[in-house]
Amino acid sequence: MKVGIDLGTTNSAVAYINANGRPEIIPNNEGERTTPSVILIENGKAIVGSVAKEAATSQIEDTIQFVKRQIGNKSFKFPISGSDHFIDAVEASAIILKKVVKDAEEALGEKITDVVITVPAYFDDAKRNATKEAGEMIGVNVLKVINEPTAAALAYYDIEKANVEQNIAIYDLGGGTFDVTIVNIHNEEIKVLATDGDSNLGGFDFDNAIFNYVADNFEKETGLDIYDDENGLQELRENAEKCKKSLTKRNKYNVPLTSQGQTVHTEITRELFNQLIESYIKRTQQIMKETINEAGLTWNDIHKVLLVGGSTRTPIISSMINNFTGIVPSKELNPDEVVALGAAVQAAFIKTDNDTSNSENIIVRDVNSHSLGVISNHGRDTMMNSIILKRNSEIPCEMSREFYTMHENQKEIMLEITEGEDEDPNYVTIIGNTTISLPEKLPIDSPIEIKISYDQNGIVHVKAKDSYHHVELGEFTIERQSNLTKQEFQQKQQELLSLEVE
Ligand SMILES: Nc1ncnc2c1ncn2[C@@H]1O[C@H](COP(=O)(O)OP(=O)(O)OP(=O)(O)O)[C@@H](O)[C@H]1O
Ligand SMILES: [Mg+2]
Repeated sequence: MKVGIDLGTTNSAVAYINANGRPEIIPNNEGERTTPSVILIENGKAIVGSVAKEAATSQIEDTIQFVKRQIGNKSFKFPISGSDHFIDAVEASAIILKKVVKDAEEALGEKITDVVITVPAYFDDAKRNATKEAGEMIGVNVLKVINEPTAAALAYYDIEKANVEQNIAIYDLGGGTFDVTIVNIHNEEIKVLATDGDSNLGGFDFDNAIFNYVADNFEKETGLDIYDDENGLQELRENAEKCKKSLTKRNKYNVPLTSQGQTVHTEITRELFNQLIESYIKRTQQIMKETINEAGLTWNDIHKVLLVGGSTRTPIISSMINNFTGIVPSKELNPDEVVALGAAVQAAFIKTDNDTSNSENIIVRDVNSHSLGVISNHGRDTMMNSIILKRNSEIPCEMSREFYTMHENQKEIMLEITEGEDEDPNYVTIIGNTTISLPEKLPIDSPIEIKISYDQNGIVHVKAKDSYHHVELGEFTIERQSNLTKQEFQQKQQELLSLEVE
């Protein structure tokens, strides 16, 4: 059995292709169609979902939330109270995956062997790799890691049976991340024209805007500092989200806050809320503008703007999009479910060994969201980032460049691989280092071709060729600081195997 998994910052969802060939959400054990991505560690057991989310108020020190914001950051560790144990972001993601896969297996009465996991289009190599690792850690085969907006486009295509050629813009604002993707749909082919985003912008930031406003107001009224009260903070975090959701329907909301024996009610009107989040909304608009330019189109060429992600329910977003593009955004697909549905559609297209289905094939042409390069020496001590593979190239893609040995019988070349758009090495991300070992007895100035590529999952690879002897040197492992070593991986996999997840 193959499923598609939307591993979200705030909510995760699983879907499969049902007996009628339609993508369908698989409810969890609690009967919900999405599972809050929250973990409660209690008595050596992990509880994932709504129960954990509710417990966050009273047991904040035992809960892990917003894991996706930390994925790819190996130094980030969630402390486990009452022990000297830490859980990192890959393990935490694996725990969430274990829960949703286990529930889906129970609902379907079948073992799940293969999965497609979605990631924000703007995720970089470290985050993609770590997501894949989390899937592998629970012992399933990760068929592919695909971009969330592309998954949404696939679901749209599959569900709406879009027959005429059209350009679609997908505006995806979830709990923690933002993506804009422009796709062309034509003749059973979905071609991504451009994508851009911000992996640190989402509904979580809207909650924080309310949170900060209320906390300030509390301090002004009482002279007390809410930051001295852990439980008060968590209660405020929950009420801030409640307030935000209410303001989608109502014009005002009173946020109560009780701390250190005092209660203050802070009124938030929709107008005030819109002001508090204005800079975020503007940022999404700016990214939309850059993406449409990058796609070489204008808004007149766009047939539809699809809204994806729970945060697109915020009313100001639809009105901003309408004002900015002249298009009334479409709400025809459920913004919480569409990504998982698309991942299930994608999973069905990938042939596995014992697969007898003859599913039709939609061709998906996606692009990379970050340019790839290497740090090189530009005379004296000036180091520069030289872009080799430009962003928004169709993946898989590969580009090469020749470098020359600097000494007689040089043994190796050390490379730093980068992701990013700037020439200044300080403003790009170093993916990792790789050491190209060279054949014996190369003369000085021998040409060595370095090829860097993005695979179908958006993960980076490095190959090299000895152009002096015309011999391929093969693929070289990138030492990623963000990745687990094989030993760490196996140890965590063992721990996870014995961890009870509910
Ligand atoms: N009615 C509503 N009005 C405003 N925001 C809402 C509403 N309902 C849900 N949200 C917000 O949507 C966000 C969750 O959306 P979603 O489930 O799409 O995110 P996610 O998939 O977990 O995150 P991401 O895709 O960024 O990883 C939360 O911040 C939530 O508060
Ligand atoms: Mg999402």
